[in-house]
Amino acid sequence: MGAEVVIEGLTKSFGKQAIWRDVTLTLPPGEVSVMLGPSGTGKSVFLKSMIGLLKPDRGKCVINGVDIVRCSEHKLYETRKLFGVLFQDGALFGSMNLYDNVAFPLREHTKKSETEIRRIVLEKLEMTGLAGAEKKLPGEISGGMRKRAGLARALVLDPEIILVDEPDSGLDPVRTTYISQLFLDVNAQIDATFLIVTHNINLARTVPDNLGMLFRKELVMFGPREVLLTSEEPVVKQFLNGRMDGPIGMSEEKDSATMAAERAMFEAGHHAGGVEEVVGIPPQMQPAPGVPERQGARRRKDRVMKILHTLPPAAQQGILDSLSPEDRRYYGIGEQHSTVGARRGQLPTEDVAQLPDGGGWREPQSTQSHPTQRLPRYDQGTS
Ligand SMILES: Nc1ncnc2c1ncn2[C@@H]1O[C@H](COP(=O)(O)OP(=O)(O)OP(=O)(O)O)[C@@H](O)[C@H]1O
Ligand SMILES: [Mg+2]
Repeated sequence: MGAEVVIEGLTKSFGKQAIWRDVTLTLPPGEVSVMLGPSGTGKSVFLKSMIGLLKPDRGKCVINGVDIVRCSEHKLYETRKLFGVLFQDGALFGSMNLYDNVAFPLREHTKKSETEIRRIVLEKLEMTGLAGAEKKLPGEISGGMRKRAGLARALVLDPEIILVDEPDSGLDPVRTTYISQLFLDVNAQIDATFLIVTHNINLARTVPDNLGMLFRKELVMFGPREVLLTSEEPVVKQFLNGRMDGPIGMSEEKDSATMAAERAMFEAGHHAGGVEEVVGIPPQMQPAPGVPERQGARRRKDRVMKILHTLPPAAQQGILDSLSPEDRRYYGIGEQHSTVGARRGQLPTEDVAQLPDGGGWREPQSTQSHPTQRLPRYDQGTS
């Protein structure tokens, strides 16, 4: 199973420039999480901080009991081996063919024989749909193939955590969906914990189990996808609809005067761009036929049902609506919680989930609250 990543109060600045502060969230093991945020909000800095390439000013990032913010160089080196990272452009060596690119971490970090390396490299190339392309140079293949090769390389050391930076950059929408499918398939096959940072709305709507957003130097929210997808928080709504109307401006944010002037303009009929407001929660993409079921998705269902009563009503309803009849029986959900109706938002204040003992994912111990937190973060249980 993938590793859990517990981040508490993580804060990063460069000199006087604060990037983000007091970021607290937990990446549940084997689940797929997406972090959204306008350009320049520090998403890439966040990923680099998670693997210790950049040093946060304070806070913790704990993986398998090791806080990578404070640990020794040796521990950091060891812990980094748990990560597979897919950088924005694939970060392949231009002069090496795909085979050697993918073999590189194995030759560098292990003592495996070339026969063993060959087996692993061909397996990962096959897994990422690149069988037969091993002799190609990065410059000879499309952007989508380069990303898949980057993913193949990220997989060779059997990572427990996979970090992905802007998988859609430079890809058309169809190729973006294909690479999203690949992430879910890989997640199903190896049960690694995924964190994908992106500003791609389609990907955010349909791929992850959990969704978060960085804005104004803070983590606005992080929690089950249903929480953000039904959120009334202006910045989240604006972002998910890709419109000009809202707090996010041309550079990072708008002052209130600009916001009011623009509001008047949109009310007078100027198109705010983006799509028509999307409401509701689209179905989540599933692993391709023939690929095993995602264990992370199964654990997430248990986890989310345990914290259901702590979530906003619209998110609760979205989660209940996504349950199959078997799930409903398993979790002891009666008909009165079935669809939108009089009882919407009036779910029991007790745990609704009746889980078998020992099953499911355990909530981490709740952490101290952070004074700068603007909204509750629903990743923490209440126990
Ligand atoms: N090594 C560094 N030294 C100083 N400032 C940095 C460094 N790396 C990033 N920054 C600054 O941190 C801020 C956040 O950058 P980052 O690249 O993380 O944003 P991002 O959210 O990934 O943006 P995008 O969506 O455009 O990729 C930027 O203002 C950038 O200039
Ligand atoms: Mg970036």
